[in-house]
Amino acid sequence: MFIILSFLGISINAQKNENLAKTPPMGWNSWNRFGCNINEQIIKEMADAMVSTGMKDAGYEYINIDDCWQGGRDSLGFIYPDPKRFPSGMKALADYVHSKGLKIGIYSDAGWKTCGGYPGSRGYEFQDALTYADWGIDYLKYDWCNTDNLLAEEAYKTMAAALVASGRPIVFSICEWGNNKPWLWGAKYGHLWRTTGDIVDCWDCELGHGSWVSNGILRILDMQMDKNLNLRQYAGPGHWNDPDMLEVGNRLTVNESRAHFSLWCMLAAPLIAGNDLRNMSNEIKEILTNKEMIAIDQDTLGVQCFRWFDYGDLQIFAKPLAGGELAVCFLNRSNVPKNINFDWKDTENIYDGKYVYEFNKTTFKLRDVWAKKFVGTTDKPFIATIPPRDVIVLRLTK
Ligand code: GLA
Repeated sequence: MFIILSFLGISINAQKNENLAKTPPMGWNSWNRFGCNINEQIIKEMADAMVSTGMKDAGYEYINIDDCWQGGRDSLGFIYPDPKRFPSGMKALADYVHSKGLKIGIYSDAGWKTCGGYPGSRGYEFQDALTYADWGIDYLKYDWCNTDNLLAEEAYKTMAAALVASGRPIVFSICEWGNNKPWLWGAKYGHLWRTTGDIVDCWDCELGHGSWVSNGILRILDMQMDKNLNLRQYAGPGHWNDPDMLEVGNRLTVNESRAHFSLWCMLAAPLIAGNDLRNMSNEIKEILTNKEMIAIDQDTLGVQCFRWFDYGDLQIFAKPLAGGELAVCFLNRSNVPKNINFDWKDTENIYDGKYVYEFNKTTFKLRDVWAKKFVGTTDKPFIATIPPRDVIVLRLTK
């Protein structure tokens, strides 16, 4: 880490904290479920629920406050939280979250106002970063509304430098929706970057908001698969593509939630839950805490999946894993069950850079990570039925 600050003709050689997010960050964020209806009680209860539901044990770590927490700036320019929603202040809230063995995240914006119209960090980057560090913040999501003619890379570089200068290890989540190709520069300054616009909790829909749209699960997935961009080449330990936060347990069915979660794990995506952890069904809790599925997301190789086969409604994704293992996800996009008869011996081998899978030479055991049982080997065709809008995920082990 190396910073040069010279106040006349400021030159900032921004680096980031290299010791963070070696695997995709895991946590919870208030936005998808609560929007602006947040307060310290909800955040505390979510921290409690993260522990009591077993999510902490499953690897979730960050409790992240999204937009609308801000009250204003004082006469010296220091940001303070809304005193009605957060009467005890952010330091007390951070202490509470830390006392549960968890970490806490906050939200700001590179522009002069956030997307919700609250004060942004433009012109206050170093002051805000110091304030966050003083409060004990561990994660910053940094949005891109009201940025006028700002240059994205420069804006994120400035906040990255401010976070480093704060002296506290703070994960930096770049949220500019893929507008300025953050995959080309984001790894220098941040630990994850949104590749696309906002997610919405439907399987395959688009929701208009006037000048912009949010997208359902399949649409976001398809954007990650853009052949021209080949986004997967940019992901790796410490720097992840972010297809946006999870909608598991919101307005999706259980099958859709399982598919969404599995696909995000295949994508080596950050796993930031966005549901009400205090009131989730057992089925949803089992999805969010499936340790075998999470292990695929958190695999130490940090390789994002590719789409191995595209048969329209049936698609097959493959993700190289450490130790020569492989995750394979069969996705049924349609509203009717799909039968699969997948002959490993007869299929294309995988040559993915240095990761080679030759099914005619090596036999793998097949572990079904949702059924949680072994279901044969690659010596025989894999025959199964995928329910509508659902997945089967296999881990191929030696
Ligand atoms: C943008 C972001 C969302 C959320 C809202 C808050 O739309 O992409 O994830 O943070 O702003 O206003």
